[in-house]
Amino acid sequence: MQVTFQDIKKTGINNKPIACITAYTAPMAQIADPLVDIILVGDSLGMTIYGFDSTIPVTIDMMIAHGEAVVRYAKHAMVVVDMSYNTYEHSKEQALENAKKIMEKTKCAAVKLEGGVELAGTIKYLVDNGIPVMGHIGLLPQSVEKMGGYKIQGRNDEGAKKVMNDALAVEKAGAFSIVIEGTIEPVARDITNALKIPTIGIGASPACDGQILVLDDVIGTFTAFSPKFSKRFCDVKPIINAAIAQYAADVKARVFPSEDNCFYPK
Ligand code: KIV
Repeated sequence: MQVTFQDIKKTGINNKPIACITAYTAPMAQIADPLVDIILVGDSLGMTIYGFDSTIPVTIDMMIAHGEAVVRYAKHAMVVVDMSYNTYEHSKEQALENAKKIMEKTKCAAVKLEGGVELAGTIKYLVDNGIPVMGHIGLLPQSVEKMGGYKIQGRNDEGAKKVMNDALAVEKAGAFSIVIEGTIEPVARDITNALKIPTIGIGASPACDGQILVLDDVIGTFTAFSPKFSKRFCDVKPIINAAIAQYAADVKARVFPSEDNCFYPK
């Protein structure tokens, strides 16, 4: 019997919330794969990998290259790839063409796109054409300018109603799961209770059916800014720093390479 995401909504994964994390490269996918349920190749790679100050400059070719690398090493977790800015908003046909391209080239399990009511028709079109879709509502990084900055959503009645309507529309359109980002706890809780599909929160409280964080926030490699909803579980920067400093010092002192690292005539 096939387990659906609606079953997972009721039971969790082994009665526990769904654990998701982003990864963008093969080595990080290899580490994360046995530990989490879903790996998202997020367009946050624009900031964490490419050094842009938003996700807007990210291209579909970047998403495909990183999606391919992650899928190559993910043997257990479900891999979802983000549709980057300007690849799905203009028409449902544009969205389908690009979603197919991402799925075919990367062999990922699903795509994710940002938006609610206004994108429901597009999501339905993708799902009707065999593309599994993860929705993304609440704070939408690709629309931060339109939203007036990185603002927590659902703080007043109108805002709360909007996020709820977005969630209901995305579910009705056929998404198998929804990321709720940067949304106040009571609204995320109401949405989670109202939906039949699992909600994955990032800054949306433990009321969600699962959680997602950006890998570089978790390990301390992205420090340009650190949202309140994120948490650094370790800080690998000083370890990497010490290793590179020691390497450079050994080169300058002619300690590296040593005899062990050299080749000689047999
Ligand atoms: O791009 C990303 O990493 C995301 C997560 C923040 C959910 O969309």
